[in-house]
Amino acid sequence: MSIEGVRKIEIPFTNQTQPIGKSVPHHQMLKKHIKDVGLEMGSLKTVIEDIFPKSIIDAFGGCGFSAAILNHTFPKAKLYLNDLDPTCSEVLKKNFPKAIVRNEDIVTWDFPNVDLVWIDFNNFTLKRLSQWTDVLIKAGNRSKILMFTDSACYGFKMGNLKAYEVSTPLNYYILLSQHLYPITKKYIRMVSMFGPAAVVRMENENGPIQMKNGVSPIKVHQIKKEGLFTT
Ligand SMILES: C[S@@+](CC[C@H](N)C(=O)[O-])C[C@H]1O[C@@H](n2cnc3c(N)ncnc32)[C@H](O)[C@@H]1O
Repeated sequence: MSIEGVRKIEIPFTNQTQPIGKSVPHHQMLKKHIKDVGLEMGSLKTVIEDIFPKSIIDAFGGCGFSAAILNHTFPKAKLYLNDLDPTCSEVLKKNFPKAIVRNEDIVTWDFPNVDLVWIDFNNFTLKRLSQWTDVLIKAGNRSKILMFTDSACYGFKMGNLKAYEVSTPLNYYILLSQHLYPITKKYIRMVSMFGPAAVVRMENENGPIQMKNGVSPIKVHQIKKEGLFTT
């Protein structure tokens, strides 16, 4: 399998007989959700178009699809790749021999200061903020730009905006920004939405965009492409 215009990525063998559940490692889930992964990668490409990080942590590295995008876009950046799943770490080592690969729990990992921290959460929304608050504080303190995936779009598609007491996705991200600013000291700058989720980019206030009341004028991109994959 390859990502269009990027490089070949090895996916470890999986017999796909296990049911999807909490105990199923990421690389087995991946094959069942490959279209969404393609859309997510398109989304990731959108939010990194105008940044130039010299050092990057991909904290939830998985099999390395996002790492491939980051590595291709910023070939000179120092790249740290991590995953809690040892199978994923092994695959990351194979796919990215020049990267620094770790097998840590992000909750306890004392990771270094870098320009960009990217956390591709399995399932993060405003409702799960309390579970990840400490991680977001740490990642906010140790990065200039913090990016993560947010799965609220899945709820939006199901008409669940009311669960957040908002009427549009943009209002949801304004609400999220209001919750995140006090803990990360970063503003949401850009949200790139794709089918079931979104990629959110947050930055410090000393950037080019004017902020008001802890909220930046958030830019929202919709990803309409079917994805970046060729098989
Ligand atoms: C959505 S996947 C990441 C996909 C990845 N971006 C890719 O391109 O393949 C989330 C990954 O986070 C890992 N993970 C979950 N909890 C973690 C934790 N506490 N610390 C580090 N990695 C974790 C999972 O093992 C899984 O591989």
